[in-house]
Amino acid sequence: MRVGLTYNLKREIGGNTPFEGRASGKLPGGAALPEDFYLECDAPETVGNVRDALAERHEEVIMIEADEDAFEKLRSSRPDMVFNMAEGVWGADRESQMPAIMEMLRIPYTGSAPLTLALCLNKGRAKEILSHYGIPTPRYFLADTPSSVEHGRLDFPFPMIVKPLVEGSSKGIKNDCLVKDKAELVDRVARITKEYRQPGLVEEFLPGREFTVAILGNGSEVRALPIVEINYSSLPKGINPIYSYEAKWVLDTPETPLDIFTCPAAIDGGLKKAIEKAAIDAYKALDVKDWCRIDIRLDSKGAPSVLELNPLPGILMDPKCNSCFPKAARSEGMTFSGLVNAVVEIARRRYGI
Ligand SMILES: Nc1ncnc2c1ncn2[C@@H]1O[C@H](COP(=O)(O)OP(=O)(O)OP(=O)(O)O)[C@@H](O)[C@H]1O
Ligand SMILES: [Mg+2]
Repeated sequence: MRVGLTYNLKREIGGNTPFEGRASGKLPGGAALPEDFYLECDAPETVGNVRDALAERHEEVIMIEADEDAFEKLRSSRPDMVFNMAEGVWGADRESQMPAIMEMLRIPYTGSAPLTLALCLNKGRAKEILSHYGIPTPRYFLADTPSSVEHGRLDFPFPMIVKPLVEGSSKGIKNDCLVKDKAELVDRVARITKEYRQPGLVEEFLPGREFTVAILGNGSEVRALPIVEINYSSLPKGINPIYSYEAKWVLDTPETPLDIFTCPAAIDGGLKKAIEKAAIDAYKALDVKDWCRIDIRLDSKGAPSVLELNPLPGILMDPKCNSCFPKAARSEGMTFSGLVNAVVEIARRRYGI
């Protein structure tokens, strides 16, 4: 097959990242780009690793950066199938842009369709759907402005966590986003709404163990890979028990990887079943295709609750990077290249090609 690879590369903002190419542009309303604007996008090394994995099994790999020229490149090259890892750059529906183009051009691609990608990036909309299907997810409200919080009624107790509504990769989820009172909440909502030009999603804080579940397949073939547990007890003092920006990007580096992951998670059969059920129910409710990583946390009674779905999961190849989907795959003997090509095969079966 001639396989395409759609991706977005990280860009440099204010000279603080080691990647080539400078960012340009502003947020709506003219605000400067936040420092972590490109965090969801991939490093050249990761894109190269995926390209090499695809090249092991396919005759040609066509590289298509998901920029303004992508439509023409897809139209003229017409790959038989595209491995889509493009996070998109601009707009709240950015993850949908490449799939929407490929739908229009009738080019098959891996992963979810535009609607699912947009819904999952918008954590509030995803939670509405989870709730509709009776799938547990933390109680929440949206905060458009700090004053709406200051003067509004709060329906669940502190501590709470506040995060940007439509971001991933812990963008905007700083260590201090776990808040213990109204004054802190108002302050963090002010920061998020100002820096990211979007509402804050305020959730009840679930104090229990945290897991992430990698899922592969469609229909009756949907299955969970070994569950990853993230254990925060060994984090330095003052670092909150959340997978925050600091935990993910500052404390955990390839040179000094954090030792906070266990896979397969040490859990009994009953809890394993309950976590897998919540994850697979969420996968089906959001109509996810081919693969997804789903974040789960236990509530104060020990019951699993779905935090969010990642239908374009991060896949860093180096085990020292602690990327959870490849970690889960490795623990059942699947290599990085095996994983990338398994996703292509799953998508092929779905399209019948
Ligand atoms: N309601 C909650 N209760 C407890 N912890 C939470 C809650 N919401 C988020 N967290 C913590 O914050 C982390 C990041 O939150 P979330 O998964 O929503 O962000 P993200 O940026 O979309 O993550 P990803 O990197 O998976 O894309 C979670 O892994 C978890 O540790
Ligand atoms: Mg997450």
